[in-house]
Amino acid sequence: MTTPLRDVLPQQARSARLVGLGSWLPPRQVTNAELCARLDTSDEWIRTRIGIATRHVADPATATSDMAVEAGMRAMKSAGVEHVDAVVLATATPDHPVPGTAPAVAHRLGLGHVPAFDVGAGCSGFVYATTVASALIRAGTARSILVVGAETMSAIVDPADRTTAPIFGDGAGAVVLREARAGEPGTFGPVAWGSAGEHAAAICIPEGGSRRPSHAGDAPRGYVHMEGNLVLRHAVRQMAHAVRDAAAAAGWDLRDIDRLIVHQANARISAGVADALGLPAERVPSNITDVGNTSAASIPLLLASAAAEGRLTAGQRVMVAAFGAGFTWAATTLVWPADLRPLT
Ligand code: UT7
Repeated sequence: MTTPLRDVLPQQARSARLVGLGSWLPPRQVTNAELCARLDTSDEWIRTRIGIATRHVADPATATSDMAVEAGMRAMKSAGVEHVDAVVLATATPDHPVPGTAPAVAHRLGLGHVPAFDVGAGCSGFVYATTVASALIRAGTARSILVVGAETMSAIVDPADRTTAPIFGDGAGAVVLREARAGEPGTFGPVAWGSAGEHAAAICIPEGGSRRPSHAGDAPRGYVHMEGNLVLRHAVRQMAHAVRDAAAAAGWDLRDIDRLIVHQANARISAGVADALGLPAERVPSNITDVGNTSAASIPLLLASAAAEGRLTAGQRVMVAAFGAGFTWAATTLVWPADLRPLT
């Protein structure tokens, strides 16, 4: 047993380092052609207005915890560990409104009675969750944490709504964070994050919460409603701001950013953020064409696929940025570590 860093280093000299990365996608893919057969839309509209060709969709027997366990197992294997001190799960689609889904994930991963809780921050959830986990590690409360982003968006998207059905997909990604010396490759830099609750209704499931319980009213549906164009405009502006703030806090010039990992909401959003920051497209990896918008799973899925494809390599300065329901947003930095082997 090594000595905990909290016993040898002051808090400001400690950080959380990315040591494991894994992802899982349900095997079934739904192409634009399949959607067009039941919706008033076209392959051309979806490709040009969103940038998606196909998305993965879980079968009805698969819930968020099932995908979280798959991704979590891979992240722990990638890190070469069989135990972590806590589990934090970012999701907008928990298995049930009560209880949280993270304890079931921890149990099924064989982690015993470790602390486990969900973070609900929409599509920003994974960056929020890594921020919370990093802070717990810096504080000495935990030495290693599994952070998962997992979503079953197909459970909350109305299949007959052409304004949401083409956008979202299912999947899960996970990382293992471990205590480290601040400034080591793989450690997370300062976060720039925030929220704008005045826009809560812009991405919302109106029924099923305490405001309108699902047992009240006439025909509760529980589907997500989204004012897409409003979200799109705020997403570009807010992520560009957050990236500038996170870069300044880390002491980076925007030109220093080798890779911008943007929440995969819409290819036009990613391009808009890159344009606003003056970053060329080749520094902005993407997987939206094949997985769609997977909400809180989006960032870890993209980290895993970009690393597996060799688009994230040792020493690159990586900026991560997300935006979603709430509104919420978050951006943070890390230098890509040399010894990370993603399992996808
Ligand atoms: O992950 C975080 C949360 N989500 C997001 O970040 C998503 C953000 N928003 C978006 O990605 C885009 O706003 C959408 C893809 C949802 C919509 O694209 P848009 O360019 O903002 O289109 P719009 O909502 O302004 O609609 C333009 C037109 C409308 O027709 P009219 O009124 O101009 O005749 C829509 O009815 O496109 C129509 N439209 C469609 N047409 C074909 C909307 N959905 C479709 C569709 N197929 N699927």
